[in-house]
Amino acid sequence: MKPAKSDTEWTVPLIPQLIAAGTAGEGVIRVWVCGCSTGEEAYSIAMLLQEQLEASNRNCAVQIFAIDIDHRPIANAREGLFPTGIASDISPERLAHFFDLEPDGSGYRIPMSIREILVSWR
Ligand SMILES: C[S@@+](CC[C@H](N)C(=O)[O-])C[C@H]1O[C@@H](n2cnc3c(N)ncnc32)[C@H](O)[C@@H]1O
Repeated sequence: MKPAKSDTEWTVPLIPQLIAAGTAGEGVIRVWVCGCSTGEEAYSIAMLLQEQLEASNRNCAVQIFAIDIDHRPIANAREGLFPTGIASDISPERLAHFFDLEPDGSGYRIPMSIREILVSWR
C-alpha cells in the first residue's frame, strides 16, 4: 500500500473535492487507474475515499476502473491478497479496518466491501 506521505498529499487537496463533486452531482465517483499493476494504488484510492466518506458522513457510490497492459499482475490484483510485509507501510488502524489476516497467517486480504468498489480490472 502507499506510504503515509503520499496519503496526505492525496487526501488533503483531492479527495474532499471528489467527494463534494460526487455527492452534489449524479452520486457516483469514478476513478480510472492506469498501469495499476497488482492494485496497490487502486485499493489505496478505494480506502481513502471510503475513509473520507465515513468521516464526512456522506454517501455516494464509488467505482474504480483499473487497467494494466500486463494481465499477470491484474490476476493478483483481483484476489486482493497482499504479503504480510504491507503491515510496515500502513497504520495499524487501517490494517485492522481494511485487511483480513488469512487463516494461515500467509497474507492480508482486502475485504469484499472494498474489492467490490473495483468494478473493472483489465
Ligand atoms: C510501476 S507499475 C505501476 C504501479 C501502480 N501504479 C501502483 O502504484 O500500484 C507500472 C505498470 O504500468 C503498466 N503499464 C505500462 N505501460 C502501460 C500501458 N500503456 N497501458 C497500461 N498499463 C501499462 C505495467 O505493466 C506496470 O504494471
